[in-house]
Amino acid sequence: MDYKKIYFAAGCFWGGEHFLRKLPGVKATRVGFANGSTPSPSYREVYTDTTGYAETVEVTYDPAKMPLKRLVEAFFVIIDPLSLNRQGEDEGTRYRTGIYWEDGADVAAIDEAYEREERWQGRPLAVEREPLRNFYPAEEEHQDYLIKHSDGYCHVDLKALRYADLLKELASLVEDVPDEVAVMANTAALLHETMKFFWTGFYRVADESHLALGPFQGPVACYSIGFGKGVCGTAWKRAASVVVEDVEQFPGHIACSSASRSEIVVPLFDGGGKVAAVLDIDSDRLATFDDTDRRMLEIAMQIVAAEIY
Ligand code: SME
Repeated sequence: MDYKKIYFAAGCFWGGEHFLRKLPGVKATRVGFANGSTPSPSYREVYTDTTGYAETVEVTYDPAKMPLKRLVEAFFVIIDPLSLNRQGEDEGTRYRTGIYWEDGADVAAIDEAYEREERWQGRPLAVEREPLRNFYPAEEEHQDYLIKHSDGYCHVDLKALRYADLLKELASLVEDVPDEVAVMANTAALLHETMKFFWTGFYRVADESHLALGPFQGPVACYSIGFGKGVCGTAWKRAASVVVEDVEQFPGHIACSSASRSEIVVPLFDGGGKVAAVLDIDSDRLATFDDTDRRMLEIAMQIVAAEIY
């Protein structure tokens, strides 16, 4: 197995490491200081904000299980990419964000994820994109800090951490299961049980005009949804996720259950980049799904799609 390394500056490295180490395909993480100007810096020296270093997480990963583009997409879940030298409570150049590579062959995948994020934000990102010039591991007390101190400061939101655990479970659950229905059934069950959703399931593209109900957990649902119809048909037509805070405000929403108040739909793409199915999750509360749900569920569906299509 050929592992690779990539370096992420994501604000305070305690939280960055805590999230990144949970992801499927990540073999090891180490916190340290990258791209500064003094030899062998200590935490205290970097803390003065005069050394040029960024708090950085070294990620050793298996690209067969976690392609770099997907890993960079996961990194974007835990940062505010528009914020310069400030993440969460922390301010200073040592808390800037960045992606640093050792291998020039990684640039294409980094650029793809970066530019996707920039299109989503609609503005230039404040995230550095540079070759790694130097990296010094931080003192032992900073390694796995939030495992050693479970009540320690963490700027990464709890939901992202729960999803990271879920992704790891999902990746091992669906690995080497070639049956589409079986994978969808267990994926729906895992998501539903772990996150306590109201309705969690799949609609599959049946022909060029209809989605057909697939494996799900929750109350009985509609059998068929037209192209461009409802939230599911809209996500299919747009080939993009749709997050609905209040289903009553979504024109053409299909109410399979009157208890459903908010919804997220995430497409699954086949090898040719066409929508093959959608994941539909409903909540019986308003505004349940945010950008963290969208981003982490998109990664979850990449993992599922890679197994079955
Ligand atoms: N509300 C969905 C239909 C599916 S059910 O919610 C399970 C929609 O508008 O596409």
